Amino acid sequence: HPKSNKPRISLLVAAPRGFCAGVDRAIKIVELAIEKYGAPVYVRHEIVHNRYVVDELKTLGAIFVEELDEVPDGVPVVFSAHGVPKAVPHKAAERGLNYLDATCPLVSKVHRQAERQVEAGRHIIFVGHAGHPEVIGTFGQVDESMITLVETLEDVAALKPIDADKLSFLTQTTLSVDDTHAIVAALQERFPSIVGPKGEDICYATSNRQDAVKQIAASSDLVLVIGAPNSSNSLRLVEVAQRLGTDAYLIQRADEIDLEWMKGVGTLGLTAGASAPEILVREVVSYLEQYFVIDEQKIRTTEEHMVFKLPRGLEAA
Ligand code: F3S
Repeated sequence: HPKSNKPRISLLVAAPRGFCAGVDRAIKIVELAIEKYGAPVYVRHEIVHNRYVVDELKTLGAIFVEELDEVPDGVPVVFSAHGVPKAVPHKAAERGLNYLDATCPLVSKVHRQAERQVEAGRHIIFVGHAGHPEVIGTFGQVDESMITLVETLEDVAALKPIDADKLSFLTQTTLSVDDTHAIVAALQERFPSIVGPKGEDICYATSNRQDAVKQIAASSDLVLVIGAPNSSNSLRLVEVAQRLGTDAYLIQRADEIDLEWMKGVGTLGLTAGASAPEILVREVVSYLEQYFVIDEQKIRTTEEHMVFKLPRGLEAA
């Protein structure tokens, strides 16, 4: 073999990365629904925030819409992994639609906690990102006068201290672990009797991916995160790397890599958000191999064995 004159890059691939159990289940629900009922199957909102996944499902016969009104009568409809306000399944039932709920069980758990807190007469302070479908879904579980969103420490400071003894907090599942600890600590300091889940509602996949990216970012000159710009957990991975002082970029596909970024990079970190399929990780590695000799190493911070059950009626499909 002639010695290659391509520059060498040491590539640190984070593990865990990519698909979580909730994303895996949501995609399977759409695939199995198409198998069982035939195309088309409608999906309300991107099933998970990834264009590649959505395009693959479209080729199988899925049709993506934003609102239930866009679903014709008589066809099955799947609700995305992020969860939906209660009004959505209610409306679907009223119309006699066959709906399948692909809400991640860890999001549904937060929905039930929200209901329980309000039943106990507590006002909920919800830590999350305005406008994210998960936040819209969770707010839609309870009377809107009973839940208030905080995004930052400043939002906590600005909260009016009404009903300070009847407060609880809940969080979005895909937040920054470090930021959320700080926000919850500020809530507890302002409202010492506030009740909430042990730890927060941040899911195992979000915190494992953040731990893993921390590990690789510390020894990388640059970190690439594969994920969509509307994927909350992917955006957090970029932030986590940047806070360690490492340059980091979010990319959807290999073709978004700018080779200028690689100037002076000896060690490159690579990870993927919970909605990004592994095939895109391999695509990025193959792309880089055109220009560099890649010395790939997997850096594993923990094992994951989580699997969620499929909705009844679909397992047998
Ligand atoms: Fe569920 Fe967490 Fe994935 S909430 S969909 S397991 S990122």
